[in-house]
Amino acid sequence: MSTISTTDYRGIYHFSPKEKWMNDPNGMVFFKGEYHLFYQHHPFGTTWGPMHWGHAVTKDLVTWEELPVALAPDEHGMIFSGSAVVDWNNTSGFFDDEPGLVAIFTHHQEVPNDHPIQRQSLAYSKNSGRTWMKYEGNPVLEHESFVDFRDPKVFWHEQTKEWIMIIACGQTVCLYHSPDLKDWTLGSEFGAGIGSHDGVWECPDLFPLAVDGDASQEKWVMLVSIGADPAFKEGSRTQYFTGDFNGITFVPDEASHTVRWFDHGRDNYAGVSWSDIPAEDGRRLFMGWMSNWMYANQTPTEGYRGAMTIARELTLEKRDAEVLLVQRPARELEQARTAVLSLQNASIRQVSEQLNTLRLVNYEIYAEWASDQSVQFALRSGSDNETLIGVDASQNEVYVDRSRSGISDFHEHFLGRHAAGLKAVDGNQHVRIYVDYSSVEVFANDGQAVITDLIYPDEGSKGISVQSENKDLVFASLHIYELSPIRAEGQSE
Ligand code: FRU
Repeated sequence: MSTISTTDYRGIYHFSPKEKWMNDPNGMVFFKGEYHLFYQHHPFGTTWGPMHWGHAVTKDLVTWEELPVALAPDEHGMIFSGSAVVDWNNTSGFFDDEPGLVAIFTHHQEVPNDHPIQRQSLAYSKNSGRTWMKYEGNPVLEHESFVDFRDPKVFWHEQTKEWIMIIACGQTVCLYHSPDLKDWTLGSEFGAGIGSHDGVWECPDLFPLAVDGDASQEKWVMLVSIGADPAFKEGSRTQYFTGDFNGITFVPDEASHTVRWFDHGRDNYAGVSWSDIPAEDGRRLFMGWMSNWMYANQTPTEGYRGAMTIARELTLEKRDAEVLLVQRPARELEQARTAVLSLQNASIRQVSEQLNTLRLVNYEIYAEWASDQSVQFALRSGSDNETLIGVDASQNEVYVDRSRSGISDFHEHFLGRHAAGLKAVDGNQHVRIYVDYSSVEVFANDGQAVITDLIYPDEGSKGISVQSENKDLVFASLHIYELSPIRAEGQSE
């Protein structure tokens, strides 16, 4: 018997802890054939509380094995967000014969009648993250003026042969460098007067990507999440910048002087990237926390709270003369597919007839049609619910409308329609939609515009339908796949 309950909104192919609270992904790293996900975790409650690092591993980016808590609070405070690296050259001196993992995280210490202190610390593991030692010299980095000084993302910079740390410091990010992960020097600060400052800056990330796959045209991408401020009904969101980085300073491109959102839904926050091969040609993967601080503590799940997005692959692509950050589902998700429907050059009437026979919850739809035509799908639909996902060609936008998607009374701003503009679509529109027990993730214009939204429909809402004003519309292709976790051989149900 499967242990997956179908009534608690737990995603079938998304990671959630078996029990209790989860927020940000931390320390994403690939080591010895395993992808590690550490995460902000409160092991004793289903709302945010004293933060630990939970831990899960996967070999295929779909089927996760939850492991014991990796890091627990200590005399320096709670364990807030951070990153993990493989110290291949033993720069830290923590290792003997074999390289191991080093976690760099924020120690968050509550101070009675004053604001908390946030300092950066280290822990290391010699057994693939199964057990950890905190460094006795903790904390390794503090700052006298920033109250918010957290979420270190560390990576090795081959050109300068140093570790780089990008860390949120109030309403900017600070860029430090170090030879050994212990001794950090401030190189520069970025962010004053640029980007969105609608909330506190959190969880920054910085990584290089080749533009259109051409390594000679490398650009650096910076992600910065901004916390929920009650003045903005969007809640917490993530923005991105593109530019150049020389090991000390990040110089943004002209295009980065306009705010660019990483995801146009409400539920992709504090996400981080990582690389899966310890070489320059490794692809850049990404996962985010699928919630929003505006209502994260109130979502209607029982026994656990919090889920991650699917793993995504990031690329930089020139579209309409602008370099855009493009997201596509990690290719491993294809292994989770079971084909349900596969149509080519099918009329909307034909497609509708087929869709009307389906009742599905956890699936992927891929649809392709002429980009000057508007199309709307109604998913997870039943007598009282439906989630509308479509492309409005007249506005050149893709949208998710969760106004009738199910339970919404836990927050006044949960309901609504979220849209993203589409850049230069020639010929065909390509839309890929991932649906699970409590989420939709839409990748439009082949990954240029992304919308990630939570939904809480009735258990019986499994219908799918499609409509267009053009009764003669033809889908160049339409595929539906049911998605289930990949079971490793010998793994029991
Ligand atoms: C982002 C965040 C981080 C912090 C963590 C605490 O969601 O607020 O800035 O480290 O969550 O759980």
